[in-house]
Amino acid sequence: METLHIPVMVQEVIRELNVNPKGLYIDCTLGLAGHSIAILNATHPSPQVIGLEVDEEAIEKAKINLVNNMNNIKILKQSFLDLEKIIKTNANNFKVDGVLLDLGMSSLQLASKDKGFSFQTESPLDMRFDSNNKVTADHIVNNYSFNKLHEILKTLGEEKSAKNIANHIINSRPIKTTSHLSRIVTTVKGQNKNNLLHPATKTFQALRIAVNNELDRLPIVLNAATKILRSGGKLVV
Ligand SMILES: C[S@@+](CC[C@H](N)C(=O)[O-])C[C@H]1O[C@@H](n2cnc3c(N)ncnc32)[C@H](O)[C@@H]1O
Repeated sequence: METLHIPVMVQEVIRELNVNPKGLYIDCTLGLAGHSIAILNATHPSPQVIGLEVDEEAIEKAKINLVNNMNNIKILKQSFLDLEKIIKTNANNFKVDGVLLDLGMSSLQLASKDKGFSFQTESPLDMRFDSNNKVTADHIVNNYSFNKLHEILKTLGEEKSAKNIANHIINSRPIKTTSHLSRIVTTVKGQNKNNLLHPATKTFQALRIAVNNELDRLPIVLNAATKILRSGGKLVV
């Protein structure tokens, strides 16, 4: 069955990429292919697209969504960290016309009962985009020192109660599920009276960024993107 996904700022992305029917575009974060489909449909004939994705389930759903567009897209289960290498083997003159990075989670991942990205589903503490990676949220929550946990919550989640939450996490080990972790954070912070943000939002965000090493990866892919873009090519993040 087709999994619906509404791509973020799709009109702006297409406008900024200024899609050329003879061009080659790299969607570094294919997800459910919402942006790739928009790029493919932006011109007639369609341009060429290479879609990169590390989550196998997302790739399967993307293929279903792309059923009418498969001729002009090559899907690779590879990380955008290998961008330069990928372009060397897949682009004629080693250059591309546009690079798109749509960072964060897809709606599929957020709703997944296996991934553990959301405090609203009862799931194991995983949070890996790529299930081949070794570090999970479970590993961090149950093994990291107070100092490391505190640092993650403070810097990656901008969590004001980072110290208290880190303490409670250590005293509540073992913590195996999203709901257990969410309860611990809610105990520390209390229910949010204005209901705007769930108390565990920042903790979950911080753990996801730490698990996937997202901050360290960004400069690597941005640097690679600038090297593979042809003169006048566009990078959209
Ligand atoms: C916000 S979603 C992209 C949604 C997509 N634009 C769409 O329209 O469906 C980000 C995606 O990037 C993927 N991702 C994360 N790290 C990656 C990496 N290093 N290489 C390739 N894809 C990655 C995630 O698995 C996730 O599916």
